[in-house]
Amino acid sequence: FFSGIELAPPDPILSLTTAYHADPKPEEYKINLGVGAYRDGQGRPWVLDSVRQAEQQIAADKRNNHEYVPILGTSTYVGLVQRFLFQQEGMPFSTRLLVDEDRIATGQGISGTGSLKVMAELLAKKVKSDSGRAGGRVFIPNPSWANHASIFASSGMEVGTYRYYDPQTQGLALDALLDDLAALLPGDAVLLHVCCHNPTGVDPSDAEWDQILQVVEDRQLLPIFDMAYQGFSHGIAEDLAVVEKLARRMLSSGLIENAMLSQSFAKNLGLYGERVGSFSLITASREEKAKVQSQLKQIVRSMYSSPPCHGSKIVERVLGDEQLYAQWCGEVAVMRDRLKQMRLLLFEQLRNLRCHGPGTTGPTGWEHLVQQQGMFCFTGLSPDQVNALQKQSIYMTSNGRISVAGINEANVERLSRAIAGVFAS
Ligand code: LMR
Repeated sequence: FFSGIELAPPDPILSLTTAYHADPKPEEYKINLGVGAYRDGQGRPWVLDSVRQAEQQIAADKRNNHEYVPILGTSTYVGLVQRFLFQQEGMPFSTRLLVDEDRIATGQGISGTGSLKVMAELLAKKVKSDSGRAGGRVFIPNPSWANHASIFASSGMEVGTYRYYDPQTQGLALDALLDDLAALLPGDAVLLHVCCHNPTGVDPSDAEWDQILQVVEDRQLLPIFDMAYQGFSHGIAEDLAVVEKLARRMLSSGLIENAMLSQSFAKNLGLYGERVGSFSLITASREEKAKVQSQLKQIVRSMYSSPPCHGSKIVERVLGDEQLYAQWCGEVAVMRDRLKQMRLLLFEQLRNLRCHGPGTTGPTGWEHLVQQQGMFCFTGLSPDQVNALQKQSIYMTSNGRISVAGINEANVERLSRAIAGVFAS
């Protein structure tokens, strides 16, 4: 039965972790800048204190059990996550109105990937069959997270790209992006990274988002927001700005009726392996929401029946408790600040080594390292340079993306010298 099966290529991101662990060099020599997972100043994974406290509360709770949770998650989880995403303190009113109008179908997803997958299945299997061509095509930025194309293509969607990054300026290719979106057909879906674009770290400015959403509206496209790094750019509420912007547009012009948002607690709560997140589908009315919700249930039931409940119980405790929530916000700020500091440290080291980088926005050629946002730097290193660094036990994806979280004070000097070395050779 299996003799005709061909060897699949290794995953471009997760295979780096395997290669890193298989590398026999001492731990303190190796540098893992591959997968986007937060590390503390000593290079260790960080279990947030808010999460530890939530886990202790769960363990001490005599009512805790391991029963199945409902197909789309518990009503507590869904309610808290909706409030967290759409009714943040300090956010203007628009997204709140969508909740008040009961137009948002939210479900617990298996982190970002699983949430996107549920949405892809709905688009490919229901929206497409029930409304003709719409739902059949999705456009993702070029470049994008390596898994995006696979998630949608494996559901049967046609995946295209729109231009996003300009390697000449290490910034947003705004005109090209707008041209590409303007050439799409009504009903096409367009995937937008809410913040901390993966892999480039280049996010549109406020004014640029306005222009992008204008084309989305004019062309009648379906926006799919993906938010894996909420809190790592400006703050938990601040990073939702484009979602609020879209909601305002939906309510004022009424020309965009639907949107989707996938969100993950992997990075900002450090719950990587717990696989917890959410999908939210903004519908045109309460009636439409009920129908969409019923289809989401069918999709989830046939894929994995119902979501796991350890991670979601932690989320419920943190989002539902004022003190834990405030503590968590502080911890997200610690992660955000460390990432910014490490960008700066790498930048300074390269500048001090007088290694001229591939950038064009300043005298050192490395200014983009500090201009980009979030967990990743798109360094501009070529695949050959990445290979040369891997021979020195420094791991990063072949497109030159580095996970800044893997940098610390103990390894930044060796890293900078190695980068300078591959630029000199
Ligand atoms: C990454 O881009 O490194 C992360 O999103 C982890 C993953 O699943 O690829």
